[in-house]
Amino acid sequence: MSASNLTNQAYLQNDQYKDASNFNARLQLHERYSLNKEGLHRWVFEQLDVPQTCRILELGCGAGELWWQNRERLPPDWAIVLSDFSPGMLHEAQHKLRPCNHLFTWLTADAQQIPLTDASVDAIIANHMLYHVPDLPRCMAEIHRVLKPGGRLYAVTNGARHLQQLGELYQRFGSREKRDDATAGLTFHLGNGEAHLAPWMTEVHLKRFDDALVVDEAEPVLAYMCSGLRYQVEPDRVGPLRAFLEQEIARHGAIRVDKDVGMFEAIR
Ligand SMILES: C[S@@+](CC[C@H](N)C(=O)[O-])C[C@H]1O[C@@H](n2cnc3c(N)ncnc32)[C@H](O)[C@@H]1O
Repeated sequence: MSASNLTNQAYLQNDQYKDASNFNARLQLHERYSLNKEGLHRWVFEQLDVPQTCRILELGCGAGELWWQNRERLPPDWAIVLSDFSPGMLHEAQHKLRPCNHLFTWLTADAQQIPLTDASVDAIIANHMLYHVPDLPRCMAEIHRVLKPGGRLYAVTNGARHLQQLGELYQRFGSREKRDDATAGLTFHLGNGEAHLAPWMTEVHLKRFDDALVVDEAEPVLAYMCSGLRYQVEPDRVGPLRAFLEQEIARHGAIRVDKDVGMFEAIR
């Protein structure tokens, strides 16, 4: 695994996001140990500024977590189109959202080639996925084409300090690749997102989401670190890493991990 896997379509579709198991290992760490109890997906939902009756497209919807976490407050007049290029992730989202009292539309689609007509959606959501897209200008052109004039793009991504303590552990317990900071090898992050968006959008704002992890168990940290999106723990280092985490938790009561997350809101 390497940082270049971040935009390797075959690896992402056939391995990392073949199904939701890797993604869920990471999600669980955030769900169980985040200090901010509102949670990122609830917060994102509150930022959406869309007409009462509207059509919303989510790119790279993953396991559908945004809609699941906000299921009791989905306005019936929102036509929500969930898309992902991984059939396995879409399947997971469909399964998860089945009990919801809302009619979703499903689309297996690459964000670089959106199968919707020009100026046909009021908002596009692209959370934690633009850094996977190999040709970002092509994706931006597609977002611009599909959005109505005045329509909004919402795009969550990470910044340089995101999970920096885990980065230090990767460095120590075996990732072959040097990890300078969380944005190394990341094409779309909090530091450069505005530059990617500005050529296509009239206004771009960045809102930060305040949060950190305080984890008092070794196993969920291990599961996260072995879920292998960018960096990996070498197999023979898993045991020593587990021992180190247990020792740190016994000594300090918990491990604190900083987050550096935010959302760009941009108007077409
Ligand atoms: C980190 S997950 C984020 C899932 C979801 N947006 C969330 O925040 O919970 C990234 C998702 O983007 C999808 N993805 C990656 N590259 C894509 C592309 N070029 N087009 C569409 N989906 C893509 C992956 O299959 C995966 O489901």
